[in-house]
Amino acid sequence: MRDEIGGLLDAFEALEPLGMRMEDGWRVGADEKVALVDWPSLPPGVDPLGTNKKGGEARGRRKRNQVATFVAHLRDVIEAFDVNAVVDYGCGTGNTVLTLASLFPDIRFTGVDLNEMSIRILNERIVASGLNNVTARVGLIEECEDLYVDVALALHVCGEATDFVMNQAIEKRIPFIVAPCCVGKVQEGGMRSLNRMRNDLIQLEKPTIERPRSKLMRATGFDFNSYMSAATLADWSGHQGVDPSNPDKPLAALPRRAKSAIEADRGEFARQQSYRVSLHKMPAQSGIRDDVIVGIPHP
Ligand SMILES: C[S@@+](CC[C@H](N)C(=O)[O-])C[C@H]1O[C@@H](n2cnc3c(N)ncnc32)[C@H](O)[C@@H]1O
Repeated sequence: MRDEIGGLLDAFEALEPLGMRMEDGWRVGADEKVALVDWPSLPPGVDPLGTNKKGGEARGRRKRNQVATFVAHLRDVIEAFDVNAVVDYGCGTGNTVLTLASLFPDIRFTGVDLNEMSIRILNERIVASGLNNVTARVGLIEECEDLYVDVALALHVCGEATDFVMNQAIEKRIPFIVAPCCVGKVQEGGMRSLNRMRNDLIQLEKPTIERPRSKLMRATGFDFNSYMSAATLADWSGHQGVDPSNPDKPLAALPRRAKSAIEADRGEFARQQSYRVSLHKMPAQSGIRDDVIVGIPHP
């Protein structure tokens, strides 16, 4: 299986999917982008370090890096577009949306998540912070078409929910900034509690996402099964002491390539819909889900 996926990845990479090109002055590459955030100056309870019970200090530091990456990308979008309302889809307890609301006080932010408990915590954090430009709501991303939004965000939103965010942004012709999470695990029936919560809320048929998403990846011979094998590899989070984020480690090399291909495929899909798309990396110590896809509608 690894040989077959390796061969297909060779073919996909040879076509230079998003990643090595320059378009209309927008860098399309694996460059890192991160803002300097003065965390202690933010309102009470906003800094992810020390405010999250789960994962301790290491997670708090990773979260800071992830959020600071979103600050940098959103700042770029705000410089280029008239932005009044930003939605953070799958916001969890609000690390991203609270930081952004503190740093961009003239913009209205909304956090949406299917997890009632997370939204309860986010609402408590909003009160504690004193911020008045951020609100939160329990809901499914798939059912948020009614929300007014100028820029769509999604940080580590599980599996295909990231694709739902991209689809909604593309339909509305607005910019999006997403850092995708796992794909293979969700499809293989993992994350049962998430599926249970989703089923409690569900009113719609779950939208189906065709995979691979892009014509380019399909043209290289990837079909649904080989795509899902690549996605499962991309979700590999290491074992036997191997750092899964280090492509120089032989065991990590193929999973890293597979992850890049899965994100390039998502980006290419948006490009097919007349988006200018760039792929970026988060800084070191952001965790292995460190790819960021930024899409800007091309008039
Ligand atoms: C890994 S957490 C990330 C939370 C937050 N963005 C962060 O980075 O801290 C993924 C979140 O997405 C939410 N989620 C997943 N699928 C969703 C859907 N279809 N609609 C709404 N929320 C969803 C989950 O409930 C969870 O809170």
